[in-house]
Order: sequence, then structure tokens, then C-alpha cells
Amino acid sequence: MAKKTPTPTPKQIDLDKDTRSSTDQFLTTNQGVRIQDNQNTLKAGDRGPSLLEDFIFREKMFHFDHERIPERVVHARGAGAHGYFQPYQSMAAVTKAGFLADPDKQTPVFVRFSTVVGSRGSTDLARDVRGFAVKFYTDEGIFDLVGNNIPVFFIQDAMKFPDLVHSIKPEPHNEIPQATAAHNTFWDFISLMPESMHMILWAMSDRAIPRSYRMMEGFGVHTFRFVNADGKGTFVKFHWKPMLGVHAVAWDEAQKISGVDPDFHRRDLWEAIESGVFPEWELGVQLVAEEDEHNFPFDLLDPTKIIPEEMVPVQRIGKMVLNRNPDNFFAETEQVAFHPGHIVPGIDFTNDPLLQGRLFSYLDTQLSRLGSPNFHELPINRPVAPVHNNQRDGHMRHTINRGTTSYQPNSLGGGCPYQAMLSEGGFSSYPERIDAHKVRDRSASFSDHFSQASLFYHSQSPAEQQHIIDAFSFELGKVTYPHIHERMVGLLTQVDEDLARAVAANLGVAVPHEPEKPMNAGVPTDADPEKYEPKAAKPP
Ligand code: HEM
Repeated sequence: MAKKTPTPTPKQIDLDKDTRSSTDQFLTTNQGVRIQDNQNTLKAGDRGPSLLEDFIFREKMFHFDHERIPERVVHARGAGAHGYFQPYQSMAAVTKAGFLADPDKQTPVFVRFSTVVGSRGSTDLARDVRGFAVKFYTDEGIFDLVGNNIPVFFIQDAMKFPDLVHSIKPEPHNEIPQATAAHNTFWDFISLMPESMHMILWAMSDRAIPRSYRMMEGFGVHTFRFVNADGKGTFVKFHWKPMLGVHAVAWDEAQKISGVDPDFHRRDLWEAIESGVFPEWELGVQLVAEEDEHNFPFDLLDPTKIIPEEMVPVQRIGKMVLNRNPDNFFAETEQVAFHPGHIVPGIDFTNDPLLQGRLFSYLDTQLSRLGSPNFHELPINRPVAPVHNNQRDGHMRHTINRGTTSYQPNSLGGGCPYQAMLSEGGFSSYPERIDAHKVRDRSASFSDHFSQASLFYHSQSPAEQQHIIDAFSFELGKVTYPHIHERMVGLLTQVDEDLARAVAANLGVAVPHEPEKPMNAGVPTDADPEKYEPKAAKPP
């Protein structure tokens, strides 16, 4: 059990309290000039035209005109909270990460939960994947665990992400529908992408309509790597297990709640924290020794696969408590910038081709979204660990760097930082051996798209299976192209024939005797094409 210790206040926020706004202070301009009247423009006579010289009006309107920034290209709608993480025991045997080494140590965190598809103003209860992104402000720098509430992903390679998102966002000509998967383009894409079948089963299950953010699991999805002080690597999958258990609403409830209170999840999180009922999760890890990498019937680098808990149990290694609401939604929840590439010594990447692509995407998109290469200086993004480097200037620089030089190598001093030795905690990448041809292929070990989809479906109770049938029927029922229905039913025959038959009956299409071969652009060139032939369904 975690020790009971006083709740810490994240240092990083203390530094940045807004000292300029307060109810018992004079109203001023941004230049600190006291304002007598900010309700009436300066005019020539009390009925006369407004005067251009009215700097008080122009400043007020100028700032308002620029209040909005672009929303996130995905995960636009979210809600955040502060808290802390505390490990149960030292994990030093497998990782040298300091925040996992000392059971007495609390590390501040900021968490943002989100839906993926809808825009900032969309409903919380849409059928969708939920983002579960955690920023750890560790003494050794920022570690971001940018996960979801579903343990697998739609695609195996980052190259497909723009296509996936273009298909799932509202259709481009009329921007319909907002925040739901019930449309032609999404199901067209999915029906041509058999690798999405495992994730799509989760997305059509109750997992995609959670009762509360407080009652969701979280998953790092990719296999990551722990590295200990001796440089030994261990594969790791990250899990968040909610102390309240996993709960969903029914689809009818979701639809009603969306109408009555589209802020349902946001409000639930806020009110729980305000009333002192702090949401809690245990951090779990599945650890796999490097020598066992190839001992599974799937590839550990394939993000469409889980490691079943029966094969590798989840060890619970610490607890996260969310105990403080943000002071300002925009400054914190909106401006926070998570990035799977933010790692600390003791944690490293693997060659999962989805993870590798994400490592480019986040920083890149955040430059557009936040508008300056200095967004790491925003209070919510600033590490508690000291920052010293030779990066200078750029739009909206806040740091006033001192000294006379900003380069390396450097024999003049002048204030330049020096590089840490490995023994002093400097980060060094895990020296994985790579000896390969440069190709665009995908390994044949990524080619089983159906076994775990079936595993998931068969792990569900009869009521939950019925919910999945209902969800496929509802969502596909909005699709206006019969050939998409047929292709989806064809794919479902490979997950479970009763499932396919039930969905086909609801859609009014026949279960194909010879399902069309999916046009999978990603079939590896070196794989056995027989593996991709959908098996013929039994006649109904
Ligand atoms: C947000 C890209 C896959 C979880 C984002 C954003 C981008 C992006 C561009 C917006 C970031 C921002 O504006 O700050 C990608 C790409 C992916 C991918 C290119 C695959 C190639 C995933 C996966 C997960 C995930 C597999 C879960 C494991 C999230 C979360 C957010 C997010 C939680 C929201 C973070 C927040 O709350 O600010 N992603 N993503 N993404 N992504 Fe991904």
C-alpha cells in the first residue's frame, strides 16, 4: 500500500501564479497604466465618431481578436487535473528512472483526458477512444506517458495516420458528422484496413462510452523499454488501473446524456476533485525480458496487439492521485503539450513503427498549435528540473539568458553549460543493434489481424457482445454504400461468424459466402498472401 503523506503542491505551478490579476487591484492596460473607463470608447463628442487614438479600446479589442488558437488536430476536446504519482517500491532492478526508485517520493503530474475525433465543443459521451495523457514533472526532466483508454491502435504504421484521421473526422464537404464514427468515409477506410479489426472491436464495445474519466483504464499501447543502471533493457507495457473499477454507460444513456449535458465527463472530474473525492489509478507494468522478445505468437512491436495478462501479469508499481483542478483551463489544459518523445533516463523507445512516427508528429504539430518554438517555457509545460542549453531567441522567448556565449565546443566559458557524464545522469539512448536493409515492407510477424479481435470478442459477456452487435449495427446503419456493409461483414466473419451474421441481419445484407479480399494497401510484400484471404463464411 502507498504511504499516507501530505499532498504536495506542484512546484512548477507555484512559480507561475498570475500575480497581476486580483479583485482588489486597479484595472490597468497591459503596460500597467491605470484605466478609469473601459466601457466607453473615446469619441469626438458624445455622439461623435470613435477616435483612432483610443489605445485603451484598441488594446482590449486587439487581445480579444486573438484569443483563440488552433485546436488540436486530434484529441481537441479534453479536461485536465493536477496530482501526484508515488511508487509502491523501488523499480531500480529494471529502470534507473528516479521517479520510480523511491517509495517515499511523490512526483507532480498533470493529466489530460480527451476524446479523439470531435472538435473542442463536441459532446463528452460520443462513442470514441479516450486519450489518457500523463505528464510527470520528474527531477530528471519531463516524462510524458501519452496513452489511450484502449490498449491497441487502429493502424500498425504511422504513415497511415493522416489517412485514418481524414477518414474519421467529419466529411470534408459538409463537416458532418461531428464526433461519431457513423459515416461513410470512416467505414470505407476501416473496411479496407483489416489491421484495424482488433481496435474496432474495442471501439464498438462499452469501453468507448465510459461512465467517467475516473473509471477508465489507460494504456501506453506501444511496447517501451526500461533500462537499468547497468544498461540492461527490459520491454515494458504501461497500464493505468482505476481504483473505482472500469464502468461504462449504455448507448441509450450516452445519447441522452449528450443532449442533456455534453460536459458530463468534464463536470464529473471537476466536481469529484472539488468535493475531495480524488480520482486514483495504479500504474501497472508488464515486463518482458529481452531474451523473450520472440516467444510470443505476435510481434511485441505491433501496436494492434496486447500481451494477454494471462501470459504476462500486470504488476502494480505505484499510485497516481488527482487532487487539484486547474486554475485556468486555457493556460493549463489547452496549452499543455504532451509528446511521447519526452522520456527520462531509464525509459526508452522500441522500433514499433507507430511509436517511431509519433516521435516526429507531436513537436511538429505543437509548433503550429502553440505558435512558437518556446512553448516549453509555458508554465504548464516547464519542467521542475533545471533547463540549461544553448538554444536562444525565437518568437515569445520568456527566458532572459545571460552570458556572452551560446555555442559548443567552447573554450571561452561565458556561461555555457557543460555536458553531463553518463554517471551524472546524462541520457544516453539504448544501444540497440540494428543490421538491416532499408525497405518499406512490413514484417510478416505483423500479419495476423484477427486472432486478438476474436479473443476480445469472446472475452465479453453475452450482454456486452450484444452491445457490440448493436454498436456495429447502429454505426454501419448510417453508411449509405452497400459494398461497405458487405466488406465489413466479410471482415467480421473472421472475428466471429455469429457476430457477422447478427450484424448482417440488422443491416439487411447477406453474409458473403466468399468475402471480398480486403484491398489492404499494407500487405507486406514478403508475407504469404494466403494469410490475407478471408475465409469463406458458412452458409446461413
Ligand atoms: C494527440 C498524432 C497515435 C494518444 C495527438 C496530436 C497529434 C497526434 C498530432 C495532437 C497533439 C497536440 O496538438 O498537442 C498522432 C500520430 C499517431 C498517434 C501521428 C500515430 C502515428 C496515438 C496513439 C495514442 C495517442 C497510439 C495512444 C497510445 C494521443 C493523446 C493525445 C494525442 C492522448 C492528446 C494529448 C493531449 O491531451 O494533449 N496525437 N497520434 N496517439 N495523441 Fe496521438
